[in-house]
Amino acid sequence: MAEVQATTTMEKIVSLAKRRGFIFQSSEIYGGINSCWDYGPLGVELKNNVKQAWRRKVIQERDDMVGIDAAILMHPKVWEASGHVAGFSDPMVDCKSCKQRFRADHLEGDKCPACGGELTEARQFNLMFKTHMGPVEDNAAVVYLRPETAQGIFVNFNNVLTTTRMKLPFGIAQVGKSFRNEITPGNFTFRTREFEQMEIEYFVKPGTDEQIHQEWLKQRFQWYLNLGLTKERLRLREHEKDELAHYAKACYDIEYFFPMGWSELEGIANRTDFDLTQHSKFSGQRMDYFDQEANEHFIPYVIEPSAGADRGTLAFLLDAYHEEPDKDEIRVVLKLHRALAPYKVAILPLSKKEPLLEIAGGIEKELRKYWMVDYDDSKAIGRRYRRQDEIGTPYCVTIDFQTVEDKAVTVRDRDTMEQERIPIADLSRYLMDKLAW
Ligand code: GLY
Repeated sequence: MAEVQATTTMEKIVSLAKRRGFIFQSSEIYGGINSCWDYGPLGVELKNNVKQAWRRKVIQERDDMVGIDAAILMHPKVWEASGHVAGFSDPMVDCKSCKQRFRADHLEGDKCPACGGELTEARQFNLMFKTHMGPVEDNAAVVYLRPETAQGIFVNFNNVLTTTRMKLPFGIAQVGKSFRNEITPGNFTFRTREFEQMEIEYFVKPGTDEQIHQEWLKQRFQWYLNLGLTKERLRLREHEKDELAHYAKACYDIEYFFPMGWSELEGIANRTDFDLTQHSKFSGQRMDYFDQEANEHFIPYVIEPSAGADRGTLAFLLDAYHEEPDKDEIRVVLKLHRALAPYKVAILPLSKKEPLLEIAGGIEKELRKYWMVDYDDSKAIGRRYRRQDEIGTPYCVTIDFQTVEDKAVTVRDRDTMEQERIPIADLSRYLMDKLAW
């Protein structure tokens, strides 16, 4: 079997991301802040498209799923009940010589990987960010920035059940920011202390959990393939027993072959009835389900597909990157799936003179009703095509002098570079068909 290769290096993607406005270092004018990143004009579109493609698949196209958007700050008891206060920690070691910190479970030997120095004994470091609510900084006011969006779903289980009258099996989905005070963040937007999750808690009757877990594994794997990730760079890996989180009976990771090697895109865990049972105990509220057919109450089991929106976005960006020979030059093209491309169409009048400008302006106004559109009338047309290729725009529309005569434009396809002449009157419909997914 051929060895798996990454499409490109992380350095090239970091450089493209900055140069073209996908991702900037946070607070750059102050020298940046470690592991924090800002999505620029193109990055925010790409990441929103990733989240939108996820919501469409797991909420819009299903009749057994609904969404919520819970607050980031929650009652501190939530994190006692969930086990995060007691157990959400990583083992940390310090180098006695150079003072750097490492995650003990990420080290290969027993020496400092930076300087070879001696390391301290490992001690547990809780990953939750603590802050205070209100003006008094005492223990009674401690709150946490949520380390997972999942708990916002569990605590709303009864609310969703009573307001929607969903029947098992059903799921609740949520996209939102989470925070973990990682000991060793890194690899660009892969591991950051502030990140965005796309999480599903899918509630099932105990006994059906293992089969439904397998179904979710297939569906979530297929989602990444459908949106263009290369099959050879995707794999499913089952967790070893000693890797499992405190709440999980079983877990699989969907991994992508990033430039630093195989790494997690999404974890799909069987959380059993752990969370609802804990919240029931700590809150004193019943958190069970009444099965009318069987005439019984029980606490559902939960299958949890938990994806990283930033990691997914990075994987789509990396996988889309292609360098192709083009005469004496190299064409850099982001072959992003049309659902994910930041701009769907670019409008390129061949000249800055009338009447081309007026025609181009009219087309731009029409197409902006449906899509994010770029408009570029500077420099040679070849240069403009390259600029659009580099940011992944699937279609370029060129308005030339013949347009004045035949009321038609040239549409160029990013991947095949083939061109077609399309009447302006048919253009929206033509692009709608091309961009549908
Ligand atoms: N909710 C699972 C996780 O955040 O890893």
